Amino acid sequence: MAEFKTVCQLSELKEGEGKCVVVAGKIIALFREGDQVRAIDDACPHMGFSLAGGAVEDGIVTCPLHAWRFRLADGSWLSSPRVKVACYPVQIVGEEVQVSPEPENAS
Ligand code: FES
Repeated sequence: MAEFKTVCQLSELKEGEGKCVVVAGKIIALFREGDQVRAIDDACPHMGFSLAGGAVEDGIVTCPLHAWRFRLADGSWLSSPRVKVACYPVQIVGEEVQVSPEPENAS
């Protein structure tokens, strides 16, 4: 089982804005939802644009390039839920945001 790595402080994450971090060589986008943090692959499965720069509303991030929309909770593409971006486990320890590089929705 992969270990959790500290990637930032919770206070560095703002509602509605993504943040890119690198964990075990993977570029992961973090999104804050209240006291919870979601972690998904940063690369959009369409053409690889950074999802961290996308607008977030109601738990959905919209890719800035062609507006594909993904649910942060499970990585699913709203237009076809069989297409997913990887989601990663997050734990918050005190103020530290920790991410595991093992996807939790891998098939
Ligand atoms: S690159 Fe994300 S929708 Fe096209």
